[in-house]
Amino acid sequence: MEVNSAASVVSDEREYAGLFSLAGRCALVTGGTGGLGSEIALAFLKQGADVAVCGGHPEKAADLREEAARLGRRFLAIRCDVTAEASVDAMMEEIEASFGTLDIVVNSAGMNRLLPAEDYDRASFDRVMALNVTALHLVTRAAGKRFLIPKRYGKILNISSVKSLIGTDRDYIAYCASKGAVNMYTKQLACEWGKYGINCNAIAPTFVRTAINAFQLDDPAFYKSLTDRIPLGRIGQKKDVAAAAVYLCSDAAAFVTGQILCVDGGLTAKQ
Ligand SMILES: NC(=O)c1ccc[n+]([C@@H]2O[C@H](COP(=O)([O-])OP(=O)(O)OC[C@H]3O[C@@H](n4cnc5c(N)ncnc54)[C@H](OP(=O)(O)O)[C@@H]3O)[C@@H](O)[C@H]2O)c1
Repeated sequence: MEVNSAASVVSDEREYAGLFSLAGRCALVTGGTGGLGSEIALAFLKQGADVAVCGGHPEKAADLREEAARLGRRFLAIRCDVTAEASVDAMMEEIEASFGTLDIVVNSAGMNRLLPAEDYDRASFDRVMALNVTALHLVTRAAGKRFLIPKRYGKILNISSVKSLIGTDRDYIAYCASKGAVNMYTKQLACEWGKYGINCNAIAPTFVRTAINAFQLDDPAFYKSLTDRIPLGRIGQKKDVAAAAVYLCSDAAAFVTGQILCVDGGLTAKQ
Protein backbone atom coordinates (compact mmCIF):
# COMPACT_ATOMS: atom_id res chain seq x y z
CA MET A 1 0.00 0.00 0.00
CA GLU A 2 1.44 3.36 -0.86
CA VAL A 3 0.74 6.90 0.23
CA ASN A 4 1.05 9.23 -2.73
CA SER A 5 1.94 12.91 -2.70
CA ALA A 6 2.73 15.10 -5.70
CA ALA A 7 6.22 13.70 -6.19
CA SER A 8 7.21 11.34 -3.40
CA VAL A 9 5.82 7.90 -2.95
CA VAL A 10 6.51 6.51 0.49
CA SER A 11 5.84 2.92 1.36
CA ASP A 12 3.28 2.54 4.11
CA GLU A 13 4.92 -0.76 4.99
CA ARG A 14 7.63 1.04 6.95
CA GLU A 15 8.60 -0.99 10.01
CA TYR A 16 8.97 0.85 13.31
CA ALA A 17 12.24 -0.92 13.91
CA GLY A 18 14.74 0.91 11.75
CA LEU A 19 12.49 3.90 11.09
CA PHE A 20 15.19 6.20 12.46
CA SER A 21 17.97 4.44 10.57
CA LEU A 22 20.10 6.41 8.10
CA ALA A 23 21.75 3.30 6.67
CA GLY A 24 22.78 3.78 3.07
CA ARG A 25 22.32 7.57 3.18
CA CYS A 26 25.04 10.08 2.37
CA ALA A 27 25.00 13.27 4.43
CA LEU A 28 26.79 16.61 4.38
CA VAL A 29 27.03 18.58 7.62
CA THR A 30 28.33 22.12 7.14
CA GLY A 31 29.95 23.34 10.32
CA GLY A 32 30.53 19.66 11.06
CA THR A 33 33.86 20.59 12.61
CA GLY A 34 32.02 22.68 15.22
CA GLY A 35 30.23 21.85 18.45
CA LEU A 36 26.72 21.00 17.26
CA GLY A 37 27.67 19.95 13.73
CA SER A 38 30.22 17.40 14.93
CA GLU A 39 27.67 15.80 17.27
CA ILE A 40 25.11 15.62 14.44
CA ALA A 41 27.77 14.05 12.21
CA LEU A 42 28.56 11.50 14.93
CA ALA A 43 24.89 10.62 15.38
CA PHE A 44 24.47 10.18 11.62
CA LEU A 45 27.52 7.89 11.45
CA LYS A 46 26.10 5.81 14.29
CA GLN A 47 22.73 5.61 12.51
CA GLY A 48 24.45 4.16 9.45
CA ALA A 49 25.13 7.14 7.16
CA ASP A 50 28.27 8.02 5.25
CA VAL A 51 29.14 11.57 6.27
CA ALA A 52 31.00 14.57 4.88
CA VAL A 53 31.70 17.48 7.20
CA CYS A 54 33.07 20.86 6.23
CA GLY A 55 34.52 23.87 7.96
CA GLY A 56 37.49 26.16 7.94
CA HIS A 57 39.53 23.69 10.00
CA PRO A 58 38.90 20.11 8.78
CA GLU A 59 41.70 18.81 11.01
CA LYS A 60 39.25 19.29 13.91
CA ALA A 61 37.36 16.24 12.57
CA ALA A 62 40.08 13.73 13.54
CA ASP A 63 37.88 12.02 16.16
CA LEU A 64 34.99 11.75 13.74
CA ARG A 65 37.29 10.23 11.11
CA GLU A 66 38.42 7.63 13.65
CA GLU A 67 34.86 6.81 14.66
CA ALA A 68 33.80 6.51 11.01
CA ALA A 69 36.63 4.06 10.35
CA ARG A 70 35.65 2.05 13.44
CA LEU A 71 32.05 1.88 12.20
CA GLY A 72 33.07 1.12 8.61
CA ARG A 73 31.48 4.28 7.15
CA ARG A 74 32.83 6.53 4.43
CA PHE A 75 33.89 9.90 5.79
CA LEU A 76 35.14 13.17 4.35
CA ALA A 77 36.41 16.27 6.14
CA ILE A 78 36.49 19.10 3.64
CA ARG A 79 38.01 22.54 3.94
CA CYS A 80 35.32 24.83 2.59
CA ASP A 81 34.30 28.45 2.95
CA VAL A 82 30.56 28.12 2.52
CA THR A 83 30.20 31.85 1.87
CA ALA A 84 32.18 31.44 -1.39
CA GLU A 85 30.40 29.82 -4.35
CA ALA A 86 33.58 28.42 -5.89
CA SER A 87 34.49 26.75 -2.61
CA VAL A 88 30.99 25.26 -2.31
CA ASP A 89 31.16 23.97 -5.89
CA ALA A 90 34.57 22.39 -5.23
CA MET A 91 33.12 20.69 -2.14
CA MET A 92 30.23 19.25 -4.18
CA GLU A 93 32.75 17.93 -6.73
CA GLU A 94 34.68 16.23 -3.95
CA ILE A 95 31.53 14.68 -2.52
CA GLU A 96 30.46 13.44 -5.96
CA ALA A 97 33.90 11.93 -6.58
CA SER A 98 33.89 10.10 -3.23
CA PHE A 99 30.24 9.31 -2.45
CA GLY A 100 28.67 9.65 -5.89
CA THR A 101 25.57 11.16 -4.34
CA LEU A 102 24.06 13.05 -1.40
CA ASP A 103 20.75 12.53 0.40
CA ILE A 104 20.93 14.80 3.43
CA VAL A 105 22.25 18.33 3.95
CA VAL A 106 22.52 19.82 7.41
CA ASN A 107 23.35 23.53 7.42
CA SER A 108 25.03 24.02 10.78
CA ALA A 109 27.80 26.49 9.88
CA GLY A 110 26.96 29.70 11.69
CA MET A 111 28.31 32.55 13.75
CA ASN A 112 27.33 35.36 16.06
CA ARG A 113 28.78 38.76 16.80
CA LEU A 114 27.51 40.60 19.87
CA LEU A 115 27.01 44.36 19.52
CA PRO A 116 24.23 46.74 20.52
CA ALA A 117 21.94 47.53 17.59
CA GLU A 118 22.96 51.19 17.57
CA ASP A 119 26.63 50.21 17.14
CA TYR A 120 26.16 47.25 14.82
CA ASP A 121 28.41 48.20 11.91
CA ARG A 122 27.72 47.25 8.31
CA ALA A 123 30.69 44.88 7.96
CA SER A 124 29.74 42.87 11.06
CA PHE A 125 26.09 42.72 10.05
CA ASP A 126 27.02 41.57 6.53
CA ARG A 127 29.35 38.85 7.87
CA VAL A 128 26.65 37.34 10.07
CA MET A 129 24.08 37.43 7.27
CA ALA A 130 26.58 36.06 4.73
CA LEU A 131 27.33 32.96 6.79
CA ASN A 132 24.01 32.33 8.54
CA VAL A 133 21.75 33.02 5.55
CA THR A 134 23.46 33.45 2.16
CA ALA A 135 25.88 30.54 2.61
CA LEU A 136 23.02 28.29 3.69
CA HIS A 137 21.35 29.09 0.37
CA LEU A 138 24.55 28.50 -1.63
CA VAL A 139 25.03 25.03 -0.13
CA THR A 140 21.35 24.10 -0.36
CA ARG A 141 21.04 25.24 -3.98
CA ALA A 142 24.22 23.46 -5.07
CA ALA A 143 23.31 20.19 -3.36
CA GLY A 144 19.69 20.39 -4.47
CA LYS A 145 20.45 20.93 -8.13
CA ARG A 146 23.24 18.39 -8.34
CA PHE A 147 21.97 15.57 -6.13
CA LEU A 148 18.58 15.87 -4.44
CA ILE A 149 16.26 17.18 -7.16
CA PRO A 150 17.42 14.67 -9.82
CA LYS A 151 16.86 11.71 -7.46
CA ARG A 152 13.54 13.08 -6.17
CA TYR A 153 14.65 12.46 -2.60
CA GLY A 154 16.39 14.51 0.01
CA LYS A 155 16.41 16.11 3.45
CA ILE A 156 17.50 19.65 4.16
CA LEU A 157 17.92 20.51 7.82
CA ASN A 158 18.80 24.05 8.88
CA ILE A 159 20.13 24.87 12.33
CA SER A 160 18.20 27.95 13.39
CA SER A 161 17.92 29.19 16.98
CA VAL A 162 15.28 30.14 19.54
CA LYS A 163 16.57 33.63 18.80
CA SER A 164 14.68 33.34 15.50
CA LEU A 165 11.47 33.51 17.53
CA ILE A 166 12.18 35.54 20.67
CA GLY A 167 14.27 38.63 21.27
CA THR A 168 16.63 39.44 24.08
CA ASP A 169 17.71 42.61 25.88
CA ARG A 170 20.70 43.52 23.72
CA ASP A 171 23.41 42.61 21.21
CA TYR A 172 21.56 40.11 19.01
CA ILE A 173 20.20 42.24 16.18
CA ALA A 174 22.07 40.54 13.32
CA TYR A 175 21.83 37.03 14.77
CA CYS A 176 18.07 37.30 15.39
CA ALA A 177 17.50 38.75 11.91
CA SER A 178 19.59 36.00 10.33
CA LYS A 179 17.88 33.15 12.16
CA GLY A 180 14.43 34.62 11.46
CA ALA A 181 15.46 34.50 7.80
CA VAL A 182 16.55 30.87 8.19
CA ASN A 183 13.07 29.96 9.45
CA MET A 184 11.30 31.57 6.51
CA TYR A 185 13.87 30.12 4.09
CA THR A 186 13.04 26.70 5.54
CA LYS A 187 9.30 27.15 5.05
CA GLN A 188 9.61 28.55 1.53
CA LEU A 189 12.00 25.81 0.41
CA ALA A 190 9.62 23.18 1.80
CA CYS A 191 6.90 24.72 -0.37
CA GLU A 192 9.08 24.89 -3.49
CA TRP A 193 10.82 21.51 -3.24
CA GLY A 194 8.00 19.38 -1.84
CA LYS A 195 7.17 18.46 -5.44
CA TYR A 196 10.65 16.92 -5.71
CA GLY A 197 10.16 14.73 -2.64
CA ILE A 198 12.49 16.87 -0.55
CA ASN A 199 11.77 17.67 3.10
CA CYS A 200 13.11 20.91 4.55
CA ASN A 201 12.98 21.56 8.28
CA ALA A 202 14.84 23.51 10.94
CA ILE A 203 15.87 22.95 14.53
CA ALA A 204 15.78 25.96 16.85
CA PRO A 205 17.91 25.16 19.89
CA THR A 206 18.41 27.20 22.99
CA PHE A 207 21.92 27.43 24.46
CA VAL A 208 24.14 24.37 24.16
CA ARG A 209 27.71 24.84 25.33
CA THR A 210 30.03 25.19 22.31
CA ALA A 211 32.78 27.56 21.14
CA ILE A 212 30.12 30.03 20.00
CA ASN A 213 28.88 30.75 23.54
CA ALA A 214 31.21 29.29 26.19
CA PHE A 215 32.24 32.80 27.28
CA GLN A 216 28.58 33.62 28.03
CA LEU A 217 27.80 30.38 29.86
CA ASP A 218 30.91 30.78 32.02
CA ASP A 219 29.27 33.85 33.61
CA PRO A 220 27.30 32.44 36.60
CA ALA A 221 24.77 35.29 36.58
CA PHE A 222 24.07 34.78 32.87
CA TYR A 223 23.80 31.01 33.33
CA LYS A 224 21.36 31.32 36.23
CA SER A 225 19.10 33.84 34.52
CA LEU A 226 19.04 31.56 31.47
CA THR A 227 18.21 28.31 33.26
CA ASP A 228 15.64 30.12 35.44
CA ARG A 229 13.68 30.83 32.25
CA ILE A 230 13.83 27.25 30.95
CA PRO A 231 11.01 25.00 32.30
CA LEU A 232 13.22 21.91 32.26
CA GLY A 233 15.78 23.87 34.30
CA ARG A 234 18.92 23.27 32.25
CA ILE A 235 20.60 24.29 29.01
CA GLY A 236 20.62 21.95 26.04
CA GLN A 237 23.06 19.15 25.42
CA LYS A 238 24.55 18.35 22.05
CA LYS A 239 22.70 15.03 22.02
CA ASP A 240 19.36 16.82 22.42
CA VAL A 241 19.99 18.55 19.11
CA ALA A 242 21.60 15.57 17.36
CA ALA A 243 18.67 13.29 18.27
CA ALA A 244 16.23 15.77 16.74
CA ALA A 245 18.44 15.94 13.65
CA VAL A 246 18.34 12.14 13.27
CA TYR A 247 14.55 12.18 13.52
CA LEU A 248 14.07 14.97 10.98
CA CYS A 249 16.51 13.40 8.48
CA SER A 250 15.08 9.88 8.80
CA ASP A 251 12.02 8.25 7.26
CA ALA A 252 10.30 8.63 10.63
CA ALA A 253 9.74 12.26 9.60
CA ALA A 254 8.79 11.51 5.99
CA PHE A 255 5.61 13.63 6.23
CA VAL A 256 7.17 16.50 8.23
CA THR A 257 8.31 19.50 6.22
CA GLY A 258 8.46 23.26 6.62
CA GLN A 259 8.68 22.94 10.40
CA ILE A 260 10.80 24.73 13.00
CA LEU A 261 11.38 22.30 15.89
CA CYS A 262 12.36 24.10 19.10
CA VAL A 263 14.80 22.02 21.13
CA ASP A 264 14.78 24.35 24.07
CA GLY A 265 13.57 22.69 27.29
CA GLY A 266 10.31 24.63 26.96
CA LEU A 267 11.88 28.12 26.82
CA THR A 268 9.73 29.35 23.96
CA ALA A 269 6.61 27.78 25.48
CA LYS A 270 7.08 30.00 28.53
CA GLN A 271 8.07 33.32 26.98
N1 LIG B 1 25.54 26.35 20.48
C1 LIG B 1 24.37 26.91 20.70
O1 LIG B 1 23.97 27.19 21.83
C2 LIG B 1 23.48 27.23 19.55
C3 LIG B 1 22.13 27.57 19.83
C4 LIG B 1 21.28 27.85 18.79
C5 LIG B 1 21.72 27.79 17.49
N2 LIG B 1 23.05 27.46 17.25
C6 LIG B 1 23.46 27.40 15.84
O2 LIG B 1 24.04 26.13 15.62
C7 LIG B 1 25.01 26.24 14.57
C8 LIG B 1 26.32 25.60 15.03
O3 LIG B 1 26.80 26.35 16.13
P1 LIG B 1 27.90 25.77 17.12
O4 LIG B 1 27.43 26.07 18.49
O5 LIG B 1 28.21 24.37 16.76
O6 LIG B 1 29.10 26.74 16.79
P2 LIG B 1 30.67 26.43 16.60
O7 LIG B 1 31.08 25.34 17.51
O8 LIG B 1 31.32 27.77 16.68
O9 LIG B 1 30.74 25.89 15.11
C9 LIG B 1 30.65 26.75 14.00
C10 LIG B 1 30.97 25.94 12.77
O10 LIG B 1 30.83 26.77 11.62
C11 LIG B 1 31.98 26.58 10.80
N3 LIG B 1 32.19 27.76 9.97
C12 LIG B 1 32.36 29.04 10.36
N4 LIG B 1 32.56 29.84 9.29
C13 LIG B 1 32.53 29.02 8.20
C14 LIG B 1 32.67 29.22 6.81
N5 LIG B 1 32.85 30.47 6.28
N6 LIG B 1 32.61 28.16 5.99
C15 LIG B 1 32.41 26.91 6.49
N7 LIG B 1 32.25 26.65 7.79
C16 LIG B 1 32.30 27.70 8.63
C17 LIG B 1 33.11 26.34 11.78
O11 LIG B 1 34.20 25.72 11.11
P3 LIG B 1 35.72 25.73 11.71
O12 LIG B 1 35.61 25.80 13.18
O13 LIG B 1 36.30 24.45 11.18
O14 LIG B 1 36.37 26.91 11.10
C18 LIG B 1 32.41 25.43 12.76
O15 LIG B 1 32.42 24.11 12.25
C19 LIG B 1 25.11 27.71 14.23
O16 LIG B 1 24.32 27.99 13.09
C20 LIG B 1 24.55 28.39 15.45
O17 LIG B 1 24.00 29.65 15.16
C21 LIG B 1 23.92 27.18 18.24
